[in-house]
Amino acid sequence: MTGGCGFIGSNLVKYLRRTRPDWTIVNLDKLTYAGNLETLADLEQDPRHIFVRGDIADRPLVEQLINKHRIEAVMHLAAESHVDRSILGPEIFTQTNVLGTQVLLDASCRAKISRFLMVSTDEVYGSLGPTGSFSESSPLVPSSPYSASKAGADLFALAYHHTFGLDVVVTRCSNNYGRYQFPEKLIPLMIVNALRNQPLPVYGDGLNVRDWLNVDDHCQALALALEKGHAGTVYNIGGEAERRNIDIVKGILKLLGKSESLIRFVADRPGHDRRYAMNAQKIREELGWVPAHTFERGLEETVQWYVENRTWWERVMSGAYREYYEEQYRTRLQALS
Ligand code: NAD
Ligand code: TYD
Repeated sequence: MTGGCGFIGSNLVKYLRRTRPDWTIVNLDKLTYAGNLETLADLEQDPRHIFVRGDIADRPLVEQLINKHRIEAVMHLAAESHVDRSILGPEIFTQTNVLGTQVLLDASCRAKISRFLMVSTDEVYGSLGPTGSFSESSPLVPSSPYSASKAGADLFALAYHHTFGLDVVVTRCSNNYGRYQFPEKLIPLMIVNALRNQPLPVYGDGLNVRDWLNVDDHCQALALALEKGHAGTVYNIGGEAERRNIDIVKGILKLLGKSESLIRFVADRPGHDRRYAMNAQKIREELGWVPAHTFERGLEETVQWYVENRTWWERVMSGAYREYYEEQYRTRLQALS
């Protein structure tokens, strides 16, 4: 697994240790600001979780790891994952998401690994109008540097299947929420700001729509896609839980018993995608995937987790992150006035 110390990756490592106890996971992660080894502290003594700190774009390291551990399959999650950061500095997105993916694909081809699971995103499809949803055959029209880099990686993976015969499965998932998500993304940021009585910055008119999925449901889908997905195939994954940003923010404030006066409408994100909605019929029908969580219950559990795990988020939010966030927030407020 790559990126196993990030939000989805760390939940996936824990999920696989619970549900696939005979698998050994080699977790290659660079530990950027978004990666946190402490999240996996409970697996420190576990012989079936081997952590390696390193960059997916480091070709000799990747080749050596695949050979040394006789890797059978790659679950590729490592990425720069935040749209706002990709607007501030796109270069690292090309380096990690595109070039890093290509290095992994090359090494996987050479070692003849049996399956490469490319974890992609619904954002590769671009933005929807008020109706309809994305299917696997929707055109790829990414609008941010983040989604463009993910589309590049996604298409590279499919190209390695068509050209070199690598066994590739691509998943494109909608917005995830749950425990251990870095508080730069909408849901955890709003929860921690509300808990600290700080303003909740809502971009634009707050009417943008995302299709939310509980991270555990995503983990279940990824394991199924790895085990049963058809080579050369794309699977959409989504929760059929379309919500407007402003309604989520108000819902979080309500759960925490906080006032809506904390909400601040700030300058919009440049190129902000209006609406995402996924048609996930194919993975339901072909692989028997059934998400277990409703959004309202899942949000409640997530809010509770952040209430109970203040030390986790205070630690990951220290130092350089705080400076980044405060600068973003100031700039957005200024742009508005
Ligand atoms: P995240 O930012 O929380 O974690 C990314 C992880 O990758 C971190 O642990 C980081 O240290 C690691 N990483 C970054 N650059 C690396 C490099 N060059 N080499 C090795 N490791 C590196 O991201 P996430 O939200 O957990 O997303 C995981 C994957 O799922 C990404 O590929 C993302 O595009 C995709 N995805 C995310 C969502 C979502 O809602 N979060 C939805 C759909 C798809
Ligand atoms: P985000 O969590 O960054 O995910 P993505 O952009 O990949 O969908 O943002 C989700 C939505 O919330 C998106 O429409 C942008 C909006 N948003 C805000 O309104 N305020 C914020 O502070 C953040 C981080 C996001």
